[in-house]
Amino acid sequence: ALERTLSIIKPDAVAKNVIGEIYSRFEKSGLKVVASKMKQLSKQEAEGFYAVHRERPFFSALVEFMISGPVMIQVLEGEGAVLKNRDLMGATNPKDAAPGTIRADFADSIDANAVHGSDSLENAAIEVAYFFPATDVYAR
Ligand code: CMP
Repeated sequence: ALERTLSIIKPDAVAKNVIGEIYSRFEKSGLKVVASKMKQLSKQEAEGFYAVHRERPFFSALVEFMISGPVMIQVLEGEGAVLKNRDLMGATNPKDAAPGTIRADFADSIDANAVHGSDSLENAAIEVAYFFPATDVYAR
């Protein structure tokens, strides 16, 4: 089915100047960028976005990392977009990520792991709405 998913290019990958290379992978796999913005997240925004992880031991390190520089946030649309984006990203820990995936190629550690992608269709809807009002998402 045609789906939308939220993708974030994290501060490490923005700093590495690989926004375009990552967008290229989305496009080559048939995903369309239907909303996009660069943003320096506030601590409050990062904490709210990752609220499900609030009790995890890595939560404060995750938040500090996500506010360490600007991120690129986009909505991707396409057939099976949620799973397709997760396949493109590879495993959360780059040590476990399959060759040719975004994390295998650009990530340095489980914290600085280049990209975030929604893990389910349900969370995708919540995460898209967290960053983009419906009027800023362009069906095409
Ligand atoms: P992300 O997909 O953005 O969702 C939560 C992030 O927490 C994850 O990617 C990792 O960058 C980070 N993280 C750090 N340690 C862990 C861990 N042990 N398990 C899962 N995620 C972790």
